[in-house]
Amino acid sequence: MTLNERLSLPFEQGLLDTVGDAPVVAIRANPASVYEEFGSLVCVQGFKPIHDALQQHGFPVVAEVPQGQSAAMVIVELTRSKAETLANVAIGYGLLDPGGILVVDGIKTDGIESVLKAVKKLLPVEGTLSKAHGKVFWLSKSGTPPEFADWAEALVPAPNADGYFTAAGMFSPDASDAGSALLADKIGGKLKGKGADLGAGWGWLAHQALASNPAITELALHEAEHSALACARSNVTDPRAGFHWSDVCTLSGPSDHDFIVMNPPFHQSRKAEPELGRQFIHTAAKLLHAKGTLWMVANRQLAYEAALNGHFHTWEYLEQSPGFKCIKASKPKR
Ligand SMILES: C[S@@+](CC[C@H](N)C(=O)[O-])C[C@H]1O[C@@H](n2cnc3c(N)ncnc32)[C@H](O)[C@@H]1O
Repeated sequence: MTLNERLSLPFEQGLLDTVGDAPVVAIRANPASVYEEFGSLVCVQGFKPIHDALQQHGFPVVAEVPQGQSAAMVIVELTRSKAETLANVAIGYGLLDPGGILVVDGIKTDGIESVLKAVKKLLPVEGTLSKAHGKVFWLSKSGTPPEFADWAEALVPAPNADGYFTAAGMFSPDASDAGSALLADKIGGKLKGKGADLGAGWGWLAHQALASNPAITELALHEAEHSALACARSNVTDPRAGFHWSDVCTLSGPSDHDFIVMNPPFHQSRKAEPELGRQFIHTAAKLLHAKGTLWMVANRQLAYEAALNGHFHTWEYLEQSPGFKCIKASKPKR
């Protein structure tokens, strides 16, 4: 059994059963949140590192909710985006057969209370249990359709105020990030040849890099979030761009890049995880050739300097603003 201790409670207490061999869909599943006892399970996880971890555990996993899928039970794991979670609740409810069970699980700091409140306004919640700094609640599908049709729209890519396609849950969906904008100002006319954007999101920085650097011959956009990469394909139509669903922390390839640009992620949960950015620096150093250059921006308080010393012979601050630091690093160490 690998179900997390909170999600396993209603099953252990006999309040819910595992529905035999009927189909179960776990949306935003992670290896801790799925039950080996489910007879017919589909995990949905578009974030590559967790997707790969599910696969390594032997669970069937897809990146997007499959078309035409139906389910006797749907489990929705919270993400940090309430709009995304509510969309997953609406989508999950839509997959259920009549009488099917929707289970929602998450921690307080990701907002389980406010999701529960929103769901309760529309549907009768049948059970709630608290454990391990979070809550699990469930309800069954009734004959009357609830009024949450517009919740699901949060996950349908739509143009933001600047005309870029984005959706809920992605990095900075409403506008370009201030750090990325700072870096974009530094790279105009400086990039040529083969390059990559590590953690490309929905493509803002890559779009700027291509627009301001005619000497770029190819730019690989590496992004872990499947849906963000799909938006990047719509936002970056330059034929020099290539799109890769990648986990940059484990990415490898020939050391043949002339340049790397990146605004690395600094958390997966709510707390800062500078180790992620350090792994991005390591990958950048591996992909660059001996004369290649890394251009990166980071939140100023994140300690990347030791990693830069460890992986590059030379680096410098291009700018340090109150919030961000822009860094240029060259001569990767082998
Ligand atoms: C700070 S955002 C930068 C987005 C974009 N480059 C921009 O400047 O607007 C970092 C991106 O890295 C992605 N990311 C997080 N972990 C990743 C991983 N292990 N591999 C690849 N991308 C990852 C996130 O989904 C996010 O889109």
